[in-house]
Amino acid sequence: MNRTDELNKWKQTVEEAMQALIESIEMPERLRDAMSYSLKAGGKRIRPALIYAVLETYDVPLERGREAAASLEMVHTYSLIHDDLPAMDDDDLRRGRPTNHRQFDEATAILAGDALLTDAFRILSEASLPPETIMKVIRAFGVAAGSSGMVGGQLDDMLAEKRNDVTLQELQSIHERKTGALLVYALEAGGIIAGVSEDDRNQLKQFGRHLGIAFQIQDDILDVVGDERAIGKRVGSDEMNEKTTYPKLLGLDGAKRALEMEVDAATDAIESLSIHAPLLLDLLTFVVKRNH
Ligand code: IPE
Ligand code: IPE
Ligand code: MG
Ligand code: MG
Ligand code: MG
Repeated sequence: MNRTDELNKWKQTVEEAMQALIESIEMPERLRDAMSYSLKAGGKRIRPALIYAVLETYDVPLERGREAAASLEMVHTYSLIHDDLPAMDDDDLRRGRPTNHRQFDEATAILAGDALLTDAFRILSEASLPPETIMKVIRAFGVAAGSSGMVGGQLDDMLAEKRNDVTLQELQSIHERKTGALLVYALEAGGIIAGVSEDDRNQLKQFGRHLGIAFQIQDDILDVVGDERAIGKRVGSDEMNEKTTYPKLLGLDGAKRALEMEVDAATDAIESLSIHAPLLLDLLTFVVKRNH
């Protein structure tokens, strides 16, 4: 089986899990429709793929990552629904379809996001894993998704809009939190569920840290040079919102160089693991070579 097959297999696995889990919850049909609309719209499913890649690397059955993978993609999807709202990036295209608030309405989109976030934690708490493992994973998830992680990064990203004095260091910190935190968490969750050594856990997190920054740099680059049909979102959204991005601070070539440095650091971390991890290296390559 080649790597694309592997990615597709993980994608299908998490999509089936999300579908089944959402259907098992009793809720108003309009809410389910709005949640499913964004969950089913597609997406690369890179965060679940990272969890599954860690499990496969350490020879742990994928089934054990089912709820962690599904809940992570749910939280990521909620972050996109809210990120697109008029009060935030005000975008009308996501994953090749109208954004949630355009398809439904703002209140429904806000509530669909709220429900995806909250149900994700409920689903994770019901996973068939040892209670101690569940507790550790939930804690790491809360730290990554909350105010010290993704949400805090999103706020600082908003505060940095229209400012011309944002430093590279500040921008890196924003990228690390708004995008990096959930990617680091994917590796962390995989590591906790697989029961890896503390040394490997730290290297996995280090890998995630550099992968996360690289991921958002590539996202910023695609916002400038991407093809709208391939990325499924509007090109030029950052410029329109006067965002500070890597291409804005360093120019396109500078941004590409910064990305390469993150890739090298991420590769070093993988090579320092106690185990050979070709799947993780492949995911790193996928993230930085992607055109969507
Ligand atoms: C987009 O994430 C938002 C960022 C955090 C950069 P993805 O590029 O993973 O979006 P999907 O899930 O594939 O749509
Ligand atoms: C968003 O970054 C990160 C999160 C949703 C947490 P962007 O605003 O750059 O993401 P896109 O480009 O809209 O996907
Ligand atoms: Mg944004
Ligand atoms: Mg956005
Ligand atoms: Mg972007």
